[in-house]
Amino acid sequence: MTTPRIFGTPLSPSATKVMLLGSGELGKEVIISLQRLGVEVIAVDRYPNAPGHQVAHRAHVIDMTDGAALSALIALEKPDLVVPEIEAIATETLLALEEAGKITCIPTARAAMLTMNREGIRCLAAEELGLPTSPYRFASSLEELEQACAAVGFPCVVKPVMSSSGKGQSKLDSAADVQAAWDYAASGGRVDAGRVIAEGFIDFDYEITLLTVRSQGADGQVETAFCEPIGHKQVQGDYVESWQPHPMSPTALERARDIAAKVTADLGGCGVFGVELFVKGDMVWFSEVSPRPHDTGMVTMASQVQSEFELHAKAVLGLPVNVALRAPGASAVIYGQHEAAGIAFEGVADALRVPGADLRLFGKPESFARRRMGVALATADDVETARQHALEAASRVKPVIR
Ligand SMILES: Nc1ncnc2c1ncn2[C@@H]1O[C@H](COP(=O)(O)OP(=O)(O)O)[C@@H](O)[C@H]1O
Ligand SMILES: [Mg+2]
Repeated sequence: MTTPRIFGTPLSPSATKVMLLGSGELGKEVIISLQRLGVEVIAVDRYPNAPGHQVAHRAHVIDMTDGAALSALIALEKPDLVVPEIEAIATETLLALEEAGKITCIPTARAAMLTMNREGIRCLAAEELGLPTSPYRFASSLEELEQACAAVGFPCVVKPVMSSSGKGQSKLDSAADVQAAWDYAASGGRVDAGRVIAEGFIDFDYEITLLTVRSQGADGQVETAFCEPIGHKQVQGDYVESWQPHPMSPTALERARDIAAKVTADLGGCGVFGVELFVKGDMVWFSEVSPRPHDTGMVTMASQVQSEFELHAKAVLGLPVNVALRAPGASAVIYGQHEAAGIAFEGVADALRVPGADLRLFGKPESFARRRMGVALATADDVETARQHALEAASRVKPVIR
């Protein structure tokens, strides 16, 4: 591993330089953590004034799916580490640069490549690693999808292989829903790859994100640590609420950690991984994994001694981490509610009067009705109270058009 061990001075020839590919709300927090360690940070996104741009040493706007633009920017900035924060990146370019010894990609270029496509990560998890998953089939046409859904059975879930935040995803109750699911997937895929996955619907009791951190131990060997399980609620495939810790039976927790250890060991490198799992009784299914901090993990800004962003910053720099819980906590998403640029927020003081509450407003230049513009956080003596307080704080923040 070529992780820099010596920390330099930003904006000088000795600087340790990190480039974030994607500078949304998650990237912004990673950048703040890196800044605190005296790292020089270059923030990249597809639009100007992205949240992370506002707190970095330098900001660039490029189409990160354009391999030539990406390698030109990397050649210009010569970062010590390249940290992908989103999925939609020309990962084949990262892989080529990594193989040529020109970059160190976090956690690895292969991990970024496999996880940006549901086909890559699902085949790895289910077929190579033998992890339990929902039954699944891939399809590239309506006819193939009809067969795929029949094979996995109803109800099932259809998703574009390249999509996130529930985009283009639908639940099907019978063969009558296949045509609509195919059309919807075509509209929601990131790139119109025209390829979808059909997954058998798992009637889980609850779903969790198991934040798993791979970091370097004192002996130079990679160690794996697990944060407390994060429970979350999804609406239309997008997270609206999360909390930590989520109670689990000892057997389910052991299985969850075993799955997370296996998949993250295969993906390799150092950093935080968000392992998404479905749980029913003692049964645990692998769903997907982000080789980076996870949106549901924003709760850790309140609930952990070191947030997932701080953990990621430290782990990628080869530093030791502490995954301890600080207090039971919760997060609740604040949506834009309006389609407008430069919106304002009323009720911020009222929100902060909720006991144990805190707030993050991301500073996104443009709002959409369902765009995540901020998050309310809360800690309490128990998770239920923390959830109520986070929801109450979020509801007191009112996006308005000025
Ligand atoms: N096979 C499934 N069975 C039951 N629920 C599912 C299934 N697949 C997805 N979901 C629900 O939809 C959410 C989003 O799906 P996911 O595969 O995580 O997509 P994304 O990559 O957009 O986050 C999940 O968190 C879960 O609540
Ligand atoms: Mg997901």
